[in-house]
Amino acid sequence: MESVEKVIDERLQGKALVTQSREGNTKKLFIESYGCQMNMNDSEIVASILADQGFNTTQVLEEADLVLVNTCSIREKAETTVRNRLKKYNAVKKINKNMKVGVLGCMAERLKEKFLEEEKIVDLVVGPDAYRDLPNLLEEIEAGRDAVNVILSKDETYGDVSPVRLNSNGVSAFVSITRGCDNMCTFCVVPFTRGRERSRDPQSIIEEIRSMVTNNYKEITLLGQNVDSYLWFGGGLKKDFNKASEMAQATAVDFAQLLDMCATEFPKTRFRFSTSNPQDMSLDVIKVMAKHKNICKYTHLPVQSGSNRMLKAMNRQHTREEYMQLVDNIFKIIPEMALSQDMIVGFCGETEEDHQDTLNLMEYVKYDFGFMFAYSERPGTLAAKKMVDDVPEEVKKRRLEEVIALQQKHALFRTQQHLGKVEEVLIEGVSKKNPNEWKGRNTQNTVIVFPKEHYKLGDFVMVKVEDCTSATLRGTAVGYSDNN
Ligand code: SAH
Ligand code: F3S
Repeated sequence: MESVEKVIDERLQGKALVTQSREGNTKKLFIESYGCQMNMNDSEIVASILADQGFNTTQVLEEADLVLVNTCSIREKAETTVRNRLKKYNAVKKINKNMKVGVLGCMAERLKEKFLEEEKIVDLVVGPDAYRDLPNLLEEIEAGRDAVNVILSKDETYGDVSPVRLNSNGVSAFVSITRGCDNMCTFCVVPFTRGRERSRDPQSIIEEIRSMVTNNYKEITLLGQNVDSYLWFGGGLKKDFNKASEMAQATAVDFAQLLDMCATEFPKTRFRFSTSNPQDMSLDVIKVMAKHKNICKYTHLPVQSGSNRMLKAMNRQHTREEYMQLVDNIFKIIPEMALSQDMIVGFCGETEEDHQDTLNLMEYVKYDFGFMFAYSERPGTLAAKKMVDDVPEEVKKRRLEEVIALQQKHALFRTQQHLGKVEEVLIEGVSKKNPNEWKGRNTQNTVIVFPKEHYKLGDFVMVKVEDCTSATLRGTAVGYSDNN
């Protein structure tokens, strides 16, 4: 079934990730990453840990000593893709017999030892909280034994591991601030594969950003399954906050404060964040966004459904009305804010009326962007255990098409609002279609292409918007922005 996959840079899905070689390293690591941006960031942490073990990255599968695939379990299709990749590795392993194959990430966590039985070529299975154990696990497989570590942690945030940047454009990068999720949406496998929610020490976040700013990065996206829930009180699980000392509670740092700290400390750096959860997004966060020019005016605010009945069945902690109220408040404080959604169609028991509620919530918000999916039942989730996946595939497909068509209409409506305006754009790369044009994004996260002229990668440029499609703006640069 067609669906719009949520990827920030589609070209990186499953592409061999490469980084600068370290002198003296002789072993070759082929690593690819599927799924969310968090996985991509985790792959950078893994590459960093393995660089200390003598590995440089390679793009040539056939020459790899170690092949790692960082996997996604969010929908069945994501898992099928990985199974197909394993077939490909298997073919190569027949030629390169010494090659070792490891599975990382959410599928590793979900399937655990079963992976070794089901996929004979897999030597190594490592869950998202166990990457520090890779050096030991590699020793195990070198000795000819299979190795598995899928222990989920209470406090692992990899705060002190400085990730190497893979396939980076040298301009924008991701920094993770929380791990895991406590929300238990009934359809979602993430709480099972990524464990309980914990936050990373703000000091280590600031230090990582500082080193990136020193290396000329211009835009940082703070990452987490639910960034608004960020809470630092000395480490440990978020759910244990009320057990922390009075002092720790009183001096805790929440997401609004973290964002304020980052934007104040690095006033020339653009900040974005993802993902927000409507139940946890506070007006304090919106106010901090309004206060700082360098915090981009874009919020990814997944809603999943416009029907109260479905929201309840999904265990989302808000109603349709509360969500609309939040959107109203956001637009009141920041009228130019861009919003995007995640939407699931065809969840258990979804009627035509529920579906209409989704469509008219979309009409209300008119999202700039959207990521829309047909419900895919995931083993182990509450929905799989307690509910019936009863919406026929063809109905899911039709509803998905309707939601996508409406989203495209709204996206066009939104891009048209930029016509004639002069907007600040950060140059992030060369346009895919025309090598003589730059590609970048405005504060709202809309892609803009324009002739290169004398401008350079990483420049902040003012661009006059002259034309648009539903996905892209086109314009001409009129000068540098005052942010350079
Ligand atoms: N909070 C997370 C959400 C991760 S999952 C974040 O950082 O983005 C991303 C999206 O996948 C969800 O918002 C939801 O729309 C979709 N999704 C999750 N489980 C799904 C399932 N079982 N079937 C279809 N879509 C699903
Ligand atoms: Fe999944 Fe809901 Fe968390 S969608 S990642 S359980 S907020």
